[in-house]
Amino acid sequence: MKRIVQIAMAVILLNLLPACAPEKKPETKMPETGLTETPTTESRTTSKKKFPQDKGPTKINMSGYPEQYKEGHELFMGKCKKCHTIARPIWSKFQGEQWDAYTRKMMRKPGCPVTPEDQPKISEFLKYDHKVREKEIGEFWKKLEGK
Ligand code: HEC
Repeated sequence: MKRIVQIAMAVILLNLLPACAPEKKPETKMPETGLTETPTTESRTTSKKKFPQDKGPTKINMSGYPEQYKEGHELFMGKCKKCHTIARPIWSKFQGEQWDAYTRKMMRKPGCPVTPEDQPKISEFLKYDHKVREKEIGEFWKKLEGK
């Protein structure tokens, strides 16, 4: 009887062995599509990405601003809200020359109503405005980030 038990144990152990060394399956290579995500058909004329400042106030108090910036302000308020809230650039941390580059970048977006004539006017306005409101913008972000 003892022997039968021993044989049974041996059989069980032998059956368990392959489980410890799992057979190697040849790696099935997926056809190389190079795709990590499904292609987007979203038109780039509207910005789906949300920016934290998008919910900020949507007005700039222009009292005290020199006359020369009024036209840039009008163009800015009228044209830069087509694809995202106007709060996005109003509360952006961009300063000085960053605005030249960024307003040009915005102009290249399909459907952007900003003309090559508008662009420097808007940019000059934003440079002045973001310098004047530098502190206010700083406070805005501090609050937003809970600091
Ligand atoms: C044709 C659509 C369109 C118009 C018009 C447009 N934008 Fe944008 N804007 C975008 C998109 C899309 C993004 C998101 C970032 C990206 O895709 O480059 C964006 C992002 C921004 C940002 C956020 C950048 C950051 O990193 O914080 C600012 C600031 C901005 N735009 C300013 C402007 C200004 C100023 C104007 C007007 C001169 C303008 N936008 C007009 C499409 C537009």
